[in-house]
Amino acid sequence: MNQAPRMGETHGAVPQLVRSVVLIGLMGAGKTSVGLRLAAALGVRAIDSDHEIERVSALTIPEIFERYGEPEFRALERRVLSRLMNETPSVISAGGGAFMNPKTRAVIRRRGISVWLRADLDLLVSRTAGRTHRPLLNQGNPRKILAGLIDERYPVYGEADITVDSAPGQTHEDMAAKIIEALLAHGRAVGER
Ligand code: S3P
Repeated sequence: MNQAPRMGETHGAVPQLVRSVVLIGLMGAGKTSVGLRLAAALGVRAIDSDHEIERVSALTIPEIFERYGEPEFRALERRVLSRLMNETPSVISAGGGAFMNPKTRAVIRRRGISVWLRADLDLLVSRTAGRTHRPLLNQGNPRKILAGLIDERYPVYGEADITVDSAPGQTHEDMAAKIIEALLAHGRAVGER
């Protein structure tokens, strides 16, 4: 029988997910890369909500913003995440703005477990530098934009079930291991409450 291990009983075993783990955080926090490592370690599917939005719309994120505007992108993001939250337990890397939507937040809270990858401004600036696929960061000085988003979003991200700090020099594997430890301690993702 495949039972979820309890704290202190894992001996390197992986917990069996009973609900999806949703990685949230700002652009550059490492949600997609850490999500892939975490999903591999847990033996579940890794899904990136932005990739899913691009797949269903057959457009890139910049194209959606350009042709239909941010509100349409947000509507699509909300629909895609609600659907994903009804599917088999997976690791879902959510776009940075997804958790800001109250309905999306509610569905994640009800059906999943949220993990905030918290990173400071310098780390986010260095990780997003030179990338052009994020429409919000192409609208001015990325440092200023990210600083504004930290002020606006971090109080809301703080409602996540679990917070894990992302530090420079930490590998994606380190982050995945920290998340697994936190998931086991929290219990809800592995069916303990
Ligand atoms: C956004 C983050 C992006 C993407 C879109 C908007 C945001 O995803 O969804 O460009 O509002 O923070 P990542 O956080 O995966 O870069």
